[in-house]
Amino acid sequence: MLLRRLCLLALLIALPAGAAELKIDLGHGVQTLDSRQLAARPDTRGIEIPQDVAYHRAMRYRAVPLKALLAGAAAGDHLQFVASDGFAAEVPAALILDGHVLDGHGAQAWLAVEDPGQPWPALPGKSQSAGPFYVVWTQPEAGGINPEQWPYQLASIRKLDAVAARFPAMAPDPKLAAASPERRGFEVFQRICLACHTLNGQGDARLGPDLNVPYNPTEYLRADLLRAYVRNPQSLRHWPQAKMPGFDAKVLSDADLDALLAYLRHMAGRKHGP
Ligand code: HEC
Repeated sequence: MLLRRLCLLALLIALPAGAAELKIDLGHGVQTLDSRQLAARPDTRGIEIPQDVAYHRAMRYRAVPLKALLAGAAAGDHLQFVASDGFAAEVPAALILDGHVLDGHGAQAWLAVEDPGQPWPALPGKSQSAGPFYVVWTQPEAGGINPEQWPYQLASIRKLDAVAARFPAMAPDPKLAAASPERRGFEVFQRICLACHTLNGQGDARLGPDLNVPYNPTEYLRADLLRAYVRNPQSLRHWPQAKMPGFDAKVLSDADLDALLAYLRHMAGRKHGP
């Protein structure tokens, strides 16, 4: 019995902990990087994240500057970060490539790489860590980086065309003025909601329900309740497994929320089959 246990132990020690893979597709072939290669890069550094979005506390990571891995991207590109659970966050490449320079300090994106030999702790309330790859930001406030732009359990990064070109059924009426609330709301929708929801059956995320077909929430939720729901979903209906986070005024201003609701109402009149 003891011998068997010892053999098992020896086997566990002998097996190298699996290196995870990250796929990057910037439109000229898929590049696969593994965590061991990434950790061995000369630009890998130990970084301090005082207010980590996924862990809700200060964290330390071994991380690679994300812009160094995205050398083939242009500032006008949209990048999509897809996690292993289907979460798909969009980040304009300009945020990562240039940083947002404010008073000489800029928000900088890093790819934190989990060491399979020394895994990170499980995320609060979950059984798994944020690894194997997690996008974290230093000085996020300088770039107005929102929580959806910290994708964890990352599996791939790819370059995309603009949302309106990829998903025309999601776009508001082209006849609307450029400064209309509906257009502004479409921008807000892309920045926050598109990471989890589809609209008119379009979009890549599969975490939340479609927000237009068969019914748009503006058709079945009173305006004040829908507003309260976006701020804090649990205030409307409460259950332990609910997954939608609330968005406070720091992430989504009142004016942006008004615009978002105007966009949703407008889209109720522009339904397309799934
Ligand atoms: C991190 C993922 C995520 C993001 C981001 C997100 N949602 Fe959700 N949403 C969900 C999930 C999952 C549900 C299903 C209920 C649940 O599990 O909380 C949901 C449910 C909803 C519902 C209720 C639909 C119904 O009929 O029950 C509405 C309305 C909604 N979301 C609107 C929004 C809007 C508007 C935004 C952008 C401001 C947004 N969501 C951003 C994940 C998300």
